[in-house]
Amino acid sequence: MIPGLIRLTDDYNFKYFNCEDSDLNDFFLNEAKSYQKSLLAVTYILETNGEIVGFFCVSNDRICAEDASVKSRWRRVKDSLPFPKRRSSYPAVKIGRFAINKKFQTGGFGSRLMNTIKYSFVIGNKTGCRFIIVDAYTRSINFYEKNGFIELPTDGSSRNSKTKLMYFDLGVFSQMN
Ligand SMILES: CC(C)(COP(=O)(O)OP(=O)(O)OC[C@H]1O[C@@H](n2cnc3c(N)ncnc32)[C@H](O)[C@@H]1OP(=O)(O)O)[C@@H](O)C(=O)NCCC(=O)NCCS
Repeated sequence: MIPGLIRLTDDYNFKYFNCEDSDLNDFFLNEAKSYQKSLLAVTYILETNGEIVGFFCVSNDRICAEDASVKSRWRRVKDSLPFPKRRSSYPAVKIGRFAINKKFQTGGFGSRLMNTIKYSFVIGNKTGCRFIIVDAYTRSINFYEKNGFIELPTDGSSRNSKTKLMYFDLGVFSQMN
């Protein structure tokens, strides 16, 4: 955990937060607590000097062959694992929401927060989790690519056209650390 990172609690008093995306603002300020209470997602908040820098929420999920519209791209996912462990789906953690307060954007906080997620699912993780996945807004794909995420092309029929499914292989991260 990086200093200043806290897990949302029921009695948390929200301070000013605006990432300039109304859906993300609304989720954080009005819905995150009830998602957590219902065990659907856990939210973490980064604070500094009493201000909110950013937040993310995560849930259990999986990455699976049927999500991929191009077979060769799924092969790339499974080829990262040793042969006996190749399956048609793998355990993953899904970043449901991820945002940095406008004032702190482009200051490297997003990447630091992303590294914290990577560490927390490799070091001392309670269950097996090989991948991080995210339905990335098309406008933030560059941010995810800079943080090592790769797009998994989908046919788009069951997904939001404003997002792209991206994944990060924690196996690569654990070998580097
Ligand atoms: C996307 C977001 C989380 C990035 O956080 P950040 O703290 O600003 O990002 P960082 O400063 O760590 O930037 C890391 C790299 O990503 C790039 N990047 C950051 N935000 C970007 C954006 N919105 N679009 C394109 N590239 C972006 C930066 O140029 C930087 O590259 P560099 O290291 O070569 O300079 C933040 O801008 C944000 O909250 N945006 C609004 C909400 C949102 O879109 N969330 C994503 C939901 S899927």
